[in-house]
Amino acid sequence: MEKERKNHVAHCLILPYPAQGHMNPMIQFSKRLIEKGVKVTLITVYSYWKTIKNKNLSSNIEVESISDGYDDGGYESAKSFDVYIQTFWRVGSQTLCELLHKLSSSKTPPNCVIFDAFMPWALDVAKNFGLLGVPFFTQSCSVNSIYFHTHQKLIELPISQSEYLLPGLPKLAQGDLPSFLYKYGSYPIIFDVVVNQFSNIGKADWILANTFYELEPEVVDWLSKIWPLKTIGPSVPSSHLDKRIKDDKEYGVSVSDPNTESSIKWLNEKPKRSVVYVSFGSNARLSEEQIEELALGLNDSEKYFLWVVRESEQVKLPKGFEETSKNGLIVTWCPQLEVLTHEAVACFVTHCGWNSTLEALSIGVPLIAMPLWTDQATNAKFIADVWKMGVRAVADEKEIVRSETIKNCIKEIIETEKGNEIKKNALKWKNLAKSSVDEGGRSDKNIEEFVAALTQY
Ligand code: UDX
Repeated sequence: MEKERKNHVAHCLILPYPAQGHMNPMIQFSKRLIEKGVKVTLITVYSYWKTIKNKNLSSNIEVESISDGYDDGGYESAKSFDVYIQTFWRVGSQTLCELLHKLSSSKTPPNCVIFDAFMPWALDVAKNFGLLGVPFFTQSCSVNSIYFHTHQKLIELPISQSEYLLPGLPKLAQGDLPSFLYKYGSYPIIFDVVVNQFSNIGKADWILANTFYELEPEVVDWLSKIWPLKTIGPSVPSSHLDKRIKDDKEYGVSVSDPNTESSIKWLNEKPKRSVVYVSFGSNARLSEEQIEELALGLNDSEKYFLWVVRESEQVKLPKGFEETSKNGLIVTWCPQLEVLTHEAVACFVTHCGWNSTLEALSIGVPLIAMPLWTDQATNAKFIADVWKMGVRAVADEKEIVRSETIKNCIKEIIETEKGNEIKKNALKWKNLAKSSVDEGGRSDKNIEEFVAALTQY
């Protein structure tokens, strides 16, 4: 026991919500904690645990499981998402208690639970065991501030104002707000999840956010006045920030097997900055009409393109598109970080998921923002108007981005003077992101301070 304690300054349990966009940043943050001498145990639901236990996540991360009530099939086997969340919140809380009982009598009992802010019940469980409880926000501070204002009933719903002015944020039009507000009532269960993140926030010992100060300084300053907030991002591996690619597994855990070899081999054959990379993350579904317009726009741009179309989305591709489209490669999943760091990539058509946004920004890849739902419209607003590292592909009244718009956005980034300015800004952000997580940078210092506080506990 003595020996174990000497080896580690503290023991953190890390509990992400079981989805790709939540696991990735929290696993990457775990690795930073390990570098600072902290012992880390990742806790995930049993169905995920079965997938990742053999994936050699990292020799330093132990993995334990709790139950979401759907040990065999995960959320897809639930009757509905509402039922899944209700069951998960109840069974998850019970099984987390059982796990904490077991771990508290182990050789290195934990002293802190860092949980995905989507699961505030974990804070109550941690406190019952006398442990530090720390929510980890996987989305931007701007988005979280909007949700916090909603929780505080400072934004009236359904929304009716043409513009919203919140502390530390630029003027937001209705369409810049997260979809759960802009289209109030569209996904009531997820609305509840994002708003309930703040239900017990007053009990949190620290609050961690996957962002960096320079990216959202005003809103971070504002939130820091009311919360013990630490920005610790971007949670992207330092090997990628340095463009020294090692192994994409270093990043985290992939729910799908990436078509690494075919994607990279194809990119290797393309000229520098000639390829448009297209991906909409791990869960967004596009309409058939939207996929057709994209296919047409990519073809009409006459640029090379690497397009991730997940297995479940493939049926929506126009018939024969893959065979006839000479300039493109379609894969079901790819090693995104490796693709973004590849010198053949010129720009990224993205749904603006927070991880994709941070990854592109940290690597300096200009963006074409095509937000679909959740936090993505707000991220798109920042990409185009605040950070000026991309353009927004504006949808028509049917909410479809037409092929002409897609083609024009690609040409704007690759061929115009405005595109050159955007590329310069993208490089500026890349450097700021890197300096924030480099030794002595603001995020790095915040992690150091957090670890120092853990050791006092
Ligand atoms: C979800 C939400 O949609 C997003 O808006 C929110 O901010 C986080 O949770 P997701 O849609 O999956 O996430 O998008 P994103 O946040 O971009 O995360 C996707 C992750 O999958 C990224 O880390 C990306 O690198 C990875 N990815 C994606 C791959 O590794 N390969 C791929 O082919 C596509």
